[in-house]
Amino acid sequence: EKGGWSSFMRKEISEQPDAVANTILGRVVDGQVVIPELDGFGDEMLRDIRRITVIACGTAAYAGMVAKYAIEQWARVPVEVELSHEFRYREPVLDEHTLVVSISQSGETMDTLMAVKYAREHGAKTISVCNTQGATIPRESDGVVYTHAGPEVAVASTKAFVAQITALYLFGLHLARVRGTLDEATLAGFVDELQQVPAQLAEVLAESERVAQLAHWMADTRSVLFLGRHVGYPIALEGALKLKELAYIHAEGFAAGELKHGPIALIEPGQPVFVVVPSPRGSQNLHPKVVSNIQEIRARGARVIAIAEAGDVAVLPFADEVIRIPLAGPLFEPLLAVVPLQMFAMELSEAKGLDVDQPRNLAKSVTVE
Ligand code: F6R
Repeated sequence: EKGGWSSFMRKEISEQPDAVANTILGRVVDGQVVIPELDGFGDEMLRDIRRITVIACGTAAYAGMVAKYAIEQWARVPVEVELSHEFRYREPVLDEHTLVVSISQSGETMDTLMAVKYAREHGAKTISVCNTQGATIPRESDGVVYTHAGPEVAVASTKAFVAQITALYLFGLHLARVRGTLDEATLAGFVDELQQVPAQLAEVLAESERVAQLAHWMADTRSVLFLGRHVGYPIALEGALKLKELAYIHAEGFAAGELKHGPIALIEPGQPVFVVVPSPRGSQNLHPKVVSNIQEIRARGARVIAIAEAGDVAVLPFADEVIRIPLAGPLFEPLLAVVPLQMFAMELSEAKGLDVDQPRNLAKSVTVE
């Protein structure tokens, strides 16, 4: 079933263009997002939502963090993201105007399931984003938006992650239309950017050789840091998680703006730091701030590996390595920037002779607390 691939993970990383395309398939009609599964959620109900709480664990929670930026920007609804196991034990404030969106590849994660049950019992509406047809979490939810990534076998999640972001973006665009928070042309522009992602992912995959080399050079690294901000922040967290679970290397992700509040003390000569660089075209003008973060850590001896969009020359004088991703809408970059980080973790794991598909101590589906 692995076909010619050395691992399921390598196969699943390569399937990401399809995971995104298949999740979009049938959900954009005449340039407009339609989510037939949510017909039960009438437009009236979606207009009535006052806030959204996303609950998930691990990589799925990072997908939720990425989507928070997009959904708030597009649909102007406050979105919070919480780990399921924290949510369910803290007496969260819920009512019928709260929409609880759970994200789970397996649809069986015990903490997420119990959190969904809790939310329903306390009057919230629940939607599940799930990759497994008929799993328990979607059955326990009021509505479900399936991701169509296909079965994910490797323990570490890759293609399910990009499919989760895709499904949440579709939901966010649907919500924006129903709530009238974006004009038609802007909405159509975002739909178009989403539809370009599969081809852009294929371009990123074609550049994978550089990442493999980097991983081989770094096979005895003991610690790696990841920085990002805005939608790049959860990608930094995801890059660190992948490296921990696959290569058993100490790794931490930070919001780049936090550097001066503590983490910069970790920087010593030779410390490898991946930096997810925001697009210079982003409306918030975060690019120069991250470039100056790069200068600050570089001045203290960090070895900087920048993930930056094509044509971003400002990073060149300061980065030791630059991994390029194609030009995409700033909100869509996380779908591309995560790929080199997944590959880096996988390649490093292989370089160390570890079992990429079955990392120690982990199970694919966590059905116990
Ligand atoms: C990391 C990973 C886990 C899962 C988490 C949630 O690579 O795979 O962090 O994302 O256990 O699993 P699901 O999505 O099945 O609820």
